[in-house]
This record gives sequence, structure tokens and C-alpha cells, in this order.
Amino acid sequence: MTSPVPNMPEAIPNELSGRVAIVTGAGRGMGRAVAVRLAAAGADVVVNDLEPTDATETAESVVSDGGNAIAVAGDITDSSFVDRLVSRAAEEYRGINILVNAAGILRRTAVIDMPETEWDLVMNVNLKGTFLPSKAVLTSMRRSGWGRIVNFSSTAGKTTSTLGGAHYTASKHAVLGLTRHMAMEEATHGITVNAVCPGLINTEMVQQEIDSDRIKRYTDSFPIPRLGEPSEAAELVAFLASDRAAYITGQGFDISGGDLMV
Ligand SMILES: NC(=O)c1ccc[n+]([C@@H]2O[C@H](COP(=O)([O-])OP(=O)(O)OC[C@H]3O[C@@H](n4cnc5c(N)ncnc54)[C@H](O)[C@@H]3O)[C@@H](O)[C@H]2O)c1
Repeated sequence: MTSPVPNMPEAIPNELSGRVAIVTGAGRGMGRAVAVRLAAAGADVVVNDLEPTDATETAESVVSDGGNAIAVAGDITDSSFVDRLVSRAAEEYRGINILVNAAGILRRTAVIDMPETEWDLVMNVNLKGTFLPSKAVLTSMRRSGWGRIVNFSSTAGKTTSTLGGAHYTASKHAVLGLTRHMAMEEATHGITVNAVCPGLINTEMVQQEIDSDRIKRYTDSFPIPRLGEPSEAAELVAFLASDRAAYITGQGFDISGGDLMV
């Protein structure tokens, strides 16, 4: 059975011109694909990642493709860094219009063996690391009366994780709760807050956890029997970040090749 990966359509030129986007965890994987995709649509992009070299590589790749980007490396669980990230974005460009919270980590330890420190780490990066940047951009978004926040949950946020542990599942459920509640609070300010819920996407997070035989066993059971590509998730994020999605808020969109159907 074949299931070709499609060539992604070109971005709508200038659809996001004049918009400033911060993408966390954009040094690799889906965050990187999102940074590239938003820049292709004309956004000025602030590339964040914990790994400075990776953040710089993404920003340089955007610039070499003719887009605008700067790298601001640092830890999104640190509120003073997050404040610096947002200030730096405002100094370099203008106020913030789009925030994509893509940074995340996965650990797989069972609850019975789970050190408290590992619980705290996963919850901090995946949940607090979504809360802090969101809180930090709201004043700027409210001022302009327009904003888009897109959070990375997971199909694990609706069921249980295939690869991760209970902390990963719990953090991704909580990201959906945060998404819905913030959507309600911000709706009358022109700010939408949505989440994407990927299934199994072809990034290092997955490649580090399982070998190709196990990946094949999983994907063979999917209605669309292959891994998703980061560019496909980025396409969904780009739509949610645009004016085309103005009447959509508080939602969590699965992108899983039909693995999850609810
Ligand atoms: N790949 C999948 O199949 C999959 C499925 C469902 C959900 N997700 C979620 O999608 C998001 C992106 O996943 P991915 O597969 O691209 O992951 P990835 O591991 O390839 O990339 C995540 C990036 O986040 C960065 N990061 C981690 N902690 C950080 C911190 N404290 N501050 C700043 N940056 C930090 C990492 O350095 C890395 O570059 C994550 O939130 C992940 O949980 C992934």
C-alpha cells in the first residue's frame, strides 16, 4: 500500500506580511517547519529554541530563502528569559501578532518508576512553557486588537500517549485546557487561541524514541499508513495563524493520518 507524501502548496504570498511571529522550539522539527512556513507567507519570525546553534540555523535558513527572521535562544520555562524574548521581538520588529508554542519534550518512564524531578521537567516545558510565552504576548496582542496563539498539544492530549509517559499525556491534556480557557478570555479582544494535536510526525522526537521497524508497525495501522511530515503540521498552523481562521477559537485539531478519530 502506498501513501505518497504530498508536495506542500506554495504559501499565499504576503498573507502574513506585517505580522510578527514568535515560534518556540523552532530549532528543529515542527517548530522549525512552522517558522519557515510563516516566513514564506511574509511574517517576520522570531526563532526561539533552547539550543542556540539550532535556533540560528533556522533563522539563517529563513533569511537565505528571502524571509525575515532572528534567533533568540533560551529556556521558555524561565519567565525572565520569556520577557526578554518578547522585548527583543518588539525591539527588532513591532508588537507581537502570532505566537506558536511548539517547544516540548517527551519522556517515557512509567508512573511507578517516575522521579518527581522528571514529572516537574515535562510539566514545566510542555505546560508552563506554553503558559509563560502566552501570558507575555497578550498585552501586545490586545493593544493591536488582533492575535493568534497556536499551541502544540498532541493526540496524547485526547487519549493516552503512544511513546511518552503519563506526565507527557497529562501535560498535553492540560495544554488543551489552557487553550480553551485562554480562548474564552481573549475572544473579544480579537485574539484566537487554538491547538494542534499531531499523531506521529517525522521529527527527531520520534526518531530518538523508536526504531524504523516499530515506526512501521505503528504507521501500518493508520488509515493513512505513513508518518506525518513537519511541513504538513506547519500548514495547519499557518492556516490557524491567518485571517482565514478568524472564527475558529478554543479548538484542538488532530493531524494524525486518521489514527485518532473522535
Ligand atoms: N513528533 C511528534 O510525533 C509529535 C506528536 C505530538 C505532539 N508533538 C509535540 O509537537 C511539538 C514539537 O515536536 P517535535 O516533534 O518537533 O519535537 P523536537 O524534539 O524535534 O523539537 C522540539 C524542540 O523544542 C526545543 N525545546 C525543548 N525544551 C525547550 C525549552 N525549555 N525552551 C526552548 N526550547 C525547547 C528543543 O530543543 C527542540 O528543538 C512538541 O510540543 C511535541 O510534544 C510531537
